[in-house]
Amino acid sequence: MIDHRHLKIAVFGANGYVAKNLRELLHFKKIDSVSSISRSDFKSYAKENKILISNLDNSISCNLRNYDVLIHLVGSGRQTINSDHYDINTDLTKQIIKICKNSNIKKIIYISGLGTAENSTICYFISKYRAERDIINSGLNYTIFRPSYIIGKQDPLSTKIINHATLHNNFCIPGSGNYLIQPIFIGDAIEIIFDSIINPLFNNGIFDLVGPEILNFREFINIFKETKKMKHRIQFTDLEYEYFNALHSSTNTYCVDDLNILIGSFIGNCEKIQKLSGIKLKNVNYSLAADSIF
Ligand SMILES: NC(=O)c1ccc[n+]([C@@H]2O[C@H](COP(=O)([O-])OP(=O)(O)OC[C@H]3O[C@@H](n4cnc5c(N)ncnc54)[C@H](OP(=O)(O)O)[C@@H]3O)[C@@H](O)[C@H]2O)c1
Repeated sequence: MIDHRHLKIAVFGANGYVAKNLRELLHFKKIDSVSSISRSDFKSYAKENKILISNLDNSISCNLRNYDVLIHLVGSGRQTINSDHYDINTDLTKQIIKICKNSNIKKIIYISGLGTAENSTICYFISKYRAERDIINSGLNYTIFRPSYIIGKQDPLSTKIINHATLHNNFCIPGSGNYLIQPIFIGDAIEIIFDSIINPLFNNGIFDLVGPEILNFREFINIFKETKKMKHRIQFTDLEYEYFNALHSSTNTYCVDDLNILIGSFIGNCEKIQKLSGIKLKNVNYSLAADSIF
């Protein structure tokens, strides 16, 4: 059996939320060779190989020759006229596949999104679906995860909720708040991503990356309020008004894609990841209160 400390692991999108936590886990697990690739400078660990590049082109391949796995965490949920979902989620994935092939990297792990499906009708999911297809057709060994909200210290959803509360003095719930979410704890998500490197049962499969609890957004905000000990009142906003603001302002708390994903009530199956990894998934209360991934 392979000693996991001798794995050679490349992390793309190293400065993002999932990547920061995953890199901490790789450091904790004493992995010998971790190369972390980002566009912007970041604080690296002593043995980590930091690679800063402005473009994801093939020039990086020589640094990653014969690595065991590339963990692809590049992605975006908000588009602008300069970079849309296809540019980032689909085209950069094509580029990353090329890098894997040029470097003779055997396996790619990709973080897609819960709700991605053959019948997707919105750009975010279509761009992720196309990225998934390119990976599946690449001939590389792959694991694709489709996460719901990944929550923990300073996760993107919590940050959005707190920023809104600070600015507007309330917790905003668009529409009824009856739509469903299935958040997963960041500590569990990265342990499962790590397990998919070494556990062959994860090879060449697509897995929902979801937590053990399905709850509506209203319930989530109530737990959030309690665990963070925040006294701000809850404000239900008209959904039409929320979409109008999202369509007319790039600074609205929830962009159109955020609203589509929330209202879509995307729910998955947590049994498979739980069974394959042997990890007992944490509940939402624990995840929101946790101060670290361990
Ligand atoms: N967090 C969640 O709840 C959640 C849920 C579902 C799916 N996902 C998916 O999981 C992945 C990681 O999520 P995250 O929360 O860690 O996202 P994040 O914090 O936004 O990080 C994504 C990273 O993608 C890279 N990136 C973005 N635009 C780029 C561009 N134009 N060129 C090159 N790199 C670019 C950046 O890496 P550098 O700044 O290091 O260059 C960025 O840090 C994403 O694909 C996301 O869609 C996340």
